[in-house]
Amino acid sequence: MIIHKSTNPRISSFDPENFSFGNTFIDHMIICEFEDGKWGDVQLVPYGQLPFSPAMMGVNYGQACFEGMKAYKDKDGKVFLFRPEKNFARINKSASRLAMPEVTEEMFLEGLKALVDIDRNWIPQGEGMSLYIRPLIFATEEALKARIANKYMFAIVATPAKSYYTEPVSVKISDFYSRAANGGVGSAKAAGNYAASFYPTKLAMEEGYDQIIWTDDSTHEFFEESGTMNVFVRINDKIYTPPTSEKILDGITRDSFIALANKRGIEMKIEPISVKAVVEAQKNGTLKEVWGVGTAVVTSVFQALGYKGEKLMLPILTLEDSFALTLQKDLVDIQTNNAEDPFGWRVLV
Ligand code: COI
Repeated sequence: MIIHKSTNPRISSFDPENFSFGNTFIDHMIICEFEDGKWGDVQLVPYGQLPFSPAMMGVNYGQACFEGMKAYKDKDGKVFLFRPEKNFARINKSASRLAMPEVTEEMFLEGLKALVDIDRNWIPQGEGMSLYIRPLIFATEEALKARIANKYMFAIVATPAKSYYTEPVSVKISDFYSRAANGGVGSAKAAGNYAASFYPTKLAMEEGYDQIIWTDDSTHEFFEESGTMNVFVRINDKIYTPPTSEKILDGITRDSFIALANKRGIEMKIEPISVKAVVEAQKNGTLKEVWGVGTAVVTSVFQALGYKGEKLMLPILTLEDSFALTLQKDLVDIQTNNAEDPFGWRVLV
């Protein structure tokens, strides 16, 4: 690895009590270029701008995918990554679906560890705090022919984080727009999936909702995801989440919630969730909780579901009664080294 340390670090002006998620970047980043059919050296360099052409294929044709992952600092200052091998596997799954070159395990994991290590002072400590890490691959070739690009960049940037949807939110069950289609790229963390979600989300926000529950593109009768998260529903004491598919992202937080629910002996059903069943359960009082999970947010609890012009309200439960909050606590305790890690999920940096 080639290392160019920052000669002008900004860490001394970083206030861990007062920063904005996603706009504050740590002092370094990882970059690595792909050309002539192979990846070059991984470089750890000062965070900053890079020179690209407006004709670069990544922005014209959307060959771009990313990961979201976090590093946590425990109360003694030890730093951990959470299940990084899962993000490694998924970025390559996304890359191959978008006809982009896969990265090697060494590039991904060594780059990640070197970056987190050099900028460990940027990781805020305390409840809900972490470093959000964004590995990405995008096409950099300057060419306007619509074809697979020949040049790419793998990069890793990172921003300090606190959970960003803290209050319970209202979500609209989509009856028109969808996030993914059969045969499409829904299971890839493709940049374009996010671009396509912004307009329907904006419309839902204009109707007074915070987010959307994405339903299937052909019938809109089944839940798929919510916002940028996987979705869970609790009816009585059973939890449901849709199975992953070519339309549903294989979320690492989703997978962790399933494992934690199983460990607690909570009945967990991985099966399609019909809008009809959820609406009926709300009407007869058996719908206890609906929530989203994702790396950035961890858990977003829903307080209302918008369906055909009606707002279906959900009870707001305390930690003691809520499966969502209990599983979130189990997860965060493992991530932050506040609890045993029976699954071997933490990786010390
Ligand atoms: C994540 O949770 O990592 C996400 O994908 C959300 C991100 C788009 C902010």
